[in-house]
Order: sequence, then C-alpha cells, then structure tokens
Amino acid sequence: MAQGRKDELLDHDADGIQEYDNSLPRWWLYGFYFTIIFSVVYMVHYHVSGTGKLMTAEYEEEMQAAESIKKIAAANAPKKELPTSPLTDAASLKKGQEIFESTNSLCATCHRTDLGGQVGPNLTDEYWIHGCDLPTIMKNITTGFPEKGMLPYGSTNKLTDEELVQVASYILSKQGSNPPDPKPIEPERDVKCGANAGTEQNTVATTDTAIKQH
Ligand code: HEC
Repeated sequence: MAQGRKDELLDHDADGIQEYDNSLPRWWLYGFYFTIIFSVVYMVHYHVSGTGKLMTAEYEEEMQAAESIKKIAAANAPKKELPTSPLTDAASLKKGQEIFESTNSLCATCHRTDLGGQVGPNLTDEYWIHGCDLPTIMKNITTGFPEKGMLPYGSTNKLTDEELVQVASYILSKQGSNPPDPKPIEPERDVKCGANAGTEQNTVATTDTAIKQH
C-alpha cells in the first residue's frame, strides 16, 4: 500500500500527539467514492431530470390510489342505489323463482317451493321475524342467519346485486299466496308487517326512509 512512505510522521503535533501520513484504507475510500457517485445520481434522478418522485408526489399518489380504492369499494358495497321497491315484471320474477328453487341457493329446500315454510319460516304471510321491506329482505339474504341454519345467500353461493333484487322481489310477489299447510308463525318473534306489507310501502318510500323503516 504505502509506496515507500509507510509510517512517515507528519511534522505537526497537537499537545504531543502526532500522526502518520498513511493512505486511507481502500474499503473506506471506495465507500467514499460510492457516496459521491450516489449523491450525483440521486440529485439528477430526483431534482434535475424529475424521473424520481419526491415525498410529496408519492404521498399525493398514494392518496389518489386510496381514493380510487374507496370508490371501487363503494361501488361494490350493497348499494343504496339498489331498488327499494320490488320488481314486478314477469321476467325478473321468473328469474327470482329460478334462484329460489335452484340447488345453488337452496332457498326452497328450507322455505319450500311454495314458500310455505319448513325449516325456515313461511315467507308468504304478513308476519316477519326480521323485517318485510325489500332492502331488509335483501340484507337478510346476504347475511343469512347462520345460528338458525340459514347461511349467507342460503348456501354461501354469492348472488349478484341483480339476482338479490330478483329473488327478494319474487318472495314479496308471493305475499298472500296462502300455500296449504304453512309453517305456523312464532308468536313471540314474528311481527306483523302492518298495512305496508310488500309493494305499497316501498313504492312511495325514498331510499333513506325505506332503510330507516325497520
Ligand atoms: C338451511 C335452511 C335455509 C336455507 C337454505 C335458506 N333459509 Fe332462509 N331462513 C332459514 C331460517 C331457519 C330462517 C329463520 C331465522 C330466524 O329464525 O331468525 C330463515 C329466514 C329467512 C328470511 C327472513 C324471514 C323473516 O321472517 O324475517 C328470508 C327473507 C329468507 N330466509 C330468505 C331465504 C332465501 C332467499 C334463501 C335462498 C337464497 C334462503 N332463505 C335459504 C333457513 C334457510
């Protein structure tokens, strides 16, 4: 390392302390050069060419990303924009019936094909345990009542929003259909839907009031 100058004393001292004029260790020197190069690259990248994003820009970007995730989540969430009054057109009700009777959703196995009730309650009368307006019924189908045996969506096979509206509308279309030998009501739990069973209440209700109604 030292080309003939190893351990040469420098001719100054501080209170009797002297030092040798040795070269810097290579590892140190290379580290030092590296920091110089790094600082230049860093400066060009972040401050000259603008190819690197500074903290504020990164922050803004993350905030924007979070904002768009929020929007997507809001778009997927059970919507207030979902109809609050049941569909009544034949095609939708037929779809609803297909879902109700399908082996994917299993609704009919517990509530019977005529909705008269078996394991699950009779869905054709005006007595409801958990509420009788469309948004509530859709919510109840979504969550199910696992402790009573009804899984979310009946069988955990997720329904799309559209299917949810269809099957809930189908249920409401069966109000008052009086199937033979229905499952009896549970007097201590069932609540009468009042004058507004099914369709009427919901056609006049706005989304908010419909949601508050139960
Ligand atoms: C494994 C049996 C089972 C299946 C499958 C099932 N349910 Fe139920 N369901 C029940 C039971 C039990 C209850 C009553 C819960 C309680 O007592 O709190 C119920 C309650 C309900 C209620 C609320 C009734 C009320 O009086 O408030 C609705 C609406 C309903 N089910 C719709 C459906 C639909 C739609 C499907 C298919 C997607 C379905 N259920 C599948 C057993 C089932």
